[in-house]
Amino acid sequence: MARGYLVAGNWKMNGSSAANAALLEGLVRGVAECPAIDVLVCPPAVYLEAAHRHLAASPIALGAQNLSDQAKPGAFTGEVDAAMLNDVGCSHVLVGHSERRTLYGEDDACVARKFVVAQSGGLIPVLCIGETLAEREADATETVLKRQLDAVISAAGIAAFLNAVIAYEPVWAIGTGRTASTEQAQAAHAFIRGVIAKNDAKIANSVRLLYGGSVKADNAASLFSCEDVDGGLIGGASLKAPEFLAICASAQILAASRDA
Ligand code: 13P
Repeated sequence: MARGYLVAGNWKMNGSSAANAALLEGLVRGVAECPAIDVLVCPPAVYLEAAHRHLAASPIALGAQNLSDQAKPGAFTGEVDAAMLNDVGCSHVLVGHSERRTLYGEDDACVARKFVVAQSGGLIPVLCIGETLAEREADATETVLKRQLDAVISAAGIAAFLNAVIAYEPVWAIGTGRTASTEQAQAAHAFIRGVIAKNDAKIANSVRLLYGGSVKADNAASLFSCEDVDGGLIGGASLKAPEFLAICASAQILAASRDA
């Protein structure tokens, strides 16, 4: 299989200069044991530049959690654009995380604009999609995932997914300790890949699909072993180096066995 594993940490609004330095130092040391996978960390925006310095000699990639939907700089108080994130060392940016959608009112059109400006600014968007519990219980999971994907496909074009990552994050599993079963995760991922495949089979085969939602050291291996799961987007468990590295190690073992 051509797709390699990506394990990404979304630190959300957590950390401090001192805590980040300690965490990054632990990760830089630990990822040496995981040469067969890609690792990404997404600290809060104010810490990106310092994080970039900590990661200088490391293969760990740096991502932001959010970006402005504006294509050009200007009078947008409080906003940070793709070029700025690039300038401080980011290669990736999360787009459309469910917390942005639900707490900050980002609709599908806004998420699609952010996806487009992220790529124009040289960043790889990690497009987050997922259904709420009410949507799952109403049997609307696939409808929601397709709507969220189609909004971006029609704004950016399918070729944009040559250079993007998709994270399936069921909202009911985020920060709840409740994880999708491997069957639920695989079914959603296969559906997402199928939506991409209807547009372009080759791109569907190459695009990385991460699972997010209460991934921990003790469930990562089973989730990552699903055929269409290419890694994880980790929240709470990305804040402690040993736990995050244990998740990376699960991916490393699977990657090594896939290569063998
Ligand atoms: P948790 O791993 O804390 O459930 O968060 C998942 C998430 O939202 C990652 O973006």
